[in-house]
Amino acid sequence: MTKDPLVVFTPSGKRGRFPAGTPVLTAARQLGVDLDSVCGGRGICSKCQITPAWGDFSKHGITSAEGALSQWNAVEQRYDDKRGLKPGRRLGCQAQILADVVIDVPPESQVHRQVVRKAASARVIEMDPATRLYYIEVDEPDMHEPTGDVERIARALSAQWGIEKISTDFSTLSLLQPILRKGGWKITVALHNTDTESPPRLVAAWPGLHEGGHFGLAIDLGSTTIAAHLTNLETGVVIASSGIMNPQIRFGEDLMSRVSYAMMNPGGDREMTAAVREAIATLATAIAQEAGIDPSLILELTFVCNPVMHHLLLGIDPVELGQAPFALATSSALNLTAADLRLTTLPASAQVYILPCIAGHVGADAAAVALSEQPDRSEDLVLVVDVGTNAEILLGNTSRVLACSSPTGPAFEGAQISSGQRAAPGAIDAIRIDPATKEPRFRVIGCDLWSDDPGFAEATAATGITGICGSGIIEAVAEMRIAGLLDSKGLIGSAEQTGTARSRPEGRTHAYLVHDGSADGGPVITVTQGDIRAIQLAKSALYAGARLLMDEMGVDKVDRVVLAGAFGAHISPLHAMVLGMIPDVPLDKVTSAGNAAGTGARIALCNLAARRQIEAEVRRITKVETAIEPRFQEHFVAANAIPHATDGFPELAKIVTLPQVAFNAGGGGEDGGRRRRRRG
Ligand code: FES
Repeated sequence: MTKDPLVVFTPSGKRGRFPAGTPVLTAARQLGVDLDSVCGGRGICSKCQITPAWGDFSKHGITSAEGALSQWNAVEQRYDDKRGLKPGRRLGCQAQILADVVIDVPPESQVHRQVVRKAASARVIEMDPATRLYYIEVDEPDMHEPTGDVERIARALSAQWGIEKISTDFSTLSLLQPILRKGGWKITVALHNTDTESPPRLVAAWPGLHEGGHFGLAIDLGSTTIAAHLTNLETGVVIASSGIMNPQIRFGEDLMSRVSYAMMNPGGDREMTAAVREAIATLATAIAQEAGIDPSLILELTFVCNPVMHHLLLGIDPVELGQAPFALATSSALNLTAADLRLTTLPASAQVYILPCIAGHVGADAAAVALSEQPDRSEDLVLVVDVGTNAEILLGNTSRVLACSSPTGPAFEGAQISSGQRAAPGAIDAIRIDPATKEPRFRVIGCDLWSDDPGFAEATAATGITGICGSGIIEAVAEMRIAGLLDSKGLIGSAEQTGTARSRPEGRTHAYLVHDGSADGGPVITVTQGDIRAIQLAKSALYAGARLLMDEMGVDKVDRVVLAGAFGAHISPLHAMVLGMIPDVPLDKVTSAGNAAGTGARIALCNLAARRQIEAEVRRITKVETAIEPRFQEHFVAANAIPHATDGFPELAKIVTLPQVAFNAGGGGEDGGRRRRRRG
């Protein structure tokens, strides 16, 4: 008896025998091979493209010869004429298996294709979105069989796709009748399936075969900025990224001032809710326009945000988050619609997923960082620091993960710094100070040259040299310490003490002159004693938070550090270490993860399993509350020194030797400093 032809699919390696004449798509489905289809095998969607491989495949034990698939047929020819098929490609629903064959499923034809992240980490996102499209042919209404259009859509989904039960979003219901008639009873529907008990929900429909794609927005809702990534939900590709300032800034710069605004002003929470929702709706339109798509194609949104932003987005008064025990209205992940959040520029049925919060001070943004960086899957002990106005800090490995949030304030973002500014062209973002001459050289955003390179003046003529951004101020303070302009307590020495006229008196303290542009009408850029204090406060809060987690974990050191946050991506690890922002580790163990919270939002947008994973992980994470922990204050005070009063930094000492200088504000020189230390 002759055997049925053997088919081997790559890259999955799945194999099986099928009667001659079986369409490749049918074989793929029976074997559980990941081969896409929207039209259900009608030869019109082209999602099922495959590439047969010809030759001897000893690895698979078969010879795949041309002729093992049926002839190229009229449906394929029609598609090729209309849209073009790549050479060697066939439509899996049309090509039939006639003999042993090896068939490759290219990445574009896989539903669960993997999207490589742009960031340094090699982590990939596997596509498994909650919303999928299905093309169906619906029975026409019949007076003798009185059923509604929705019921006949459900019947078509059951017969043609094996989907037994659906629910219909109310806002979609009103649109269905004209769509069905326009499409001549052939339509494409979008079903949103959260993988829970409830049946898939019909959230959008189009006449005929819909080929315009469907999209999702991953939104990182921060206290200062709102960033969104518009993602193609079929391919996982980010087609546009954009951001705007959070308009709630007018109610208060930081989180606690917004909570107080809500406390002091009746209806203040509602004002802030309306402002942020309107901004998100505007951002959604702008980003769709930038990408050249209709906003009606945005069918899903995911949000990550800190607890105060979370409550204000949901329309919940954040007052409870301003006082112990910092009770959240809910910490669970939420499934809502754009209509619930009154995001008026998006389809009312667009599905919203908000990641779970970890605790009253540790929000969905920290959960997103955990999802992106996966400390729970790290064999070595990793400290993940998401640097922003608040620092989200995670410490853990496969056995346990701890989390806290630390109020670093806006200094790391260039705010509350005398010459500080946001990262924009003209801002100094890197600086080096010669320890011998104490002369600085620097780079500004928008120009790759250093200030002592030929052509720097011409190259920066357009932008000017306008101030120092967050990464610039961190480097400036660290370089001042390395060059001996600053002592371990954070005092700037006088010209006499430091040997440079760039140390200039300013009241009872000193400031270091980085750049004097006054001759050309530009600013005089200095690092003042006040700036150093602001950075000390911020870095002490960060370090104290990390130490608190290390205490809780019972360790004195960590194996590696990941700097996350849009700003974390630009921090120089060496300078962060000199400042004592992060615990001492070998420099090659400090990596940058870019905007990890935003990445977490993208992962949750593209992958349902990731949502389940972070919901479970959040329940396992141990929260440490910095606000009520007495040791936080101790750690904070000790961390005020640069790099630290008591913790040694042996790894740092292998790379730089920090000068043993000590100044005092009155200019007492080294002796004065020593005297003060003895007294202290
Ligand atoms: S499944 Fe749609 S073209 Fe083959």
